[in-house]
Amino acid sequence: MLTVDSETPLHWVLREQLGLTGTKYSCGIAECGACTVHLDGEARLSCVTPVGEVAGTDIITIEGFYGQVDVQFAPAEAMYKNPAFNTQMTAASTSVRTSWDILRKAGATAREMLIAAAAGTWNVPAGQCRAETGMVIHNQSQRKLGYGELASKAAQLPIPDNVTLKKPEDFRIIGHSYLRLDMMARIYAMLGLIINSPDFYIDALSRAAVLGLNLNLLQIVGSVL
Ligand code: FES
Repeated sequence: MLTVDSETPLHWVLREQLGLTGTKYSCGIAECGACTVHLDGEARLSCVTPVGEVAGTDIITIEGFYGQVDVQFAPAEAMYKNPAFNTQMTAASTSVRTSWDILRKAGATAREMLIAAAAGTWNVPAGQCRAETGMVIHNQSQRKLGYGELASKAAQLPIPDNVTLKKPEDFRIIGHSYLRLDMMARIYAMLGLIINSPDFYIDALSRAAVLGLNLNLLQIVGSVL
């Protein structure tokens, strides 16, 4: 039996109280879909779903799909090489810097295939549908299907050669600043690494604010924990 505030996002209850860490957190603003879970078979974004709304529903997280997911490693092929190093590898945070166009095309391809799958399900033109926040939506009827519900069907469709990339003016995350929902919790160390010991101290290295100054080593008393 858990006792939590009904306004607590479902995401934190799953991860912090129940230890189901398969559900990931990324944007925290209902944009990326990383926190998707199924509630009574419907895809929902757990980062913006208050736990009080899900009483009595069946919740399935990614842990519930283990055994049904087939993980395949990329074979050794030129198309998988990191363009900056000309080798098949990952290193540091080069993916976006080196593969911006590839990633955009991959995203646009997935979007078109998911839309095509939903349009086929509803028997409506794909042009009447849009994809956003982890769902494909039929504009006229407002019917919705989650990406998870469409993935199997979309995977059977032919991969389009030419896809329309999202226009920069339509970017909703890139180039925008959003306050993370967990910001205050992180500032006050309520999440992440929590070590509660009277003998525990945190050392932090403070960068000089101006070029040419020395660095100061600060000792932050453990009372912030
Ligand atoms: S964390 Fe991105 S939609 Fe929830």
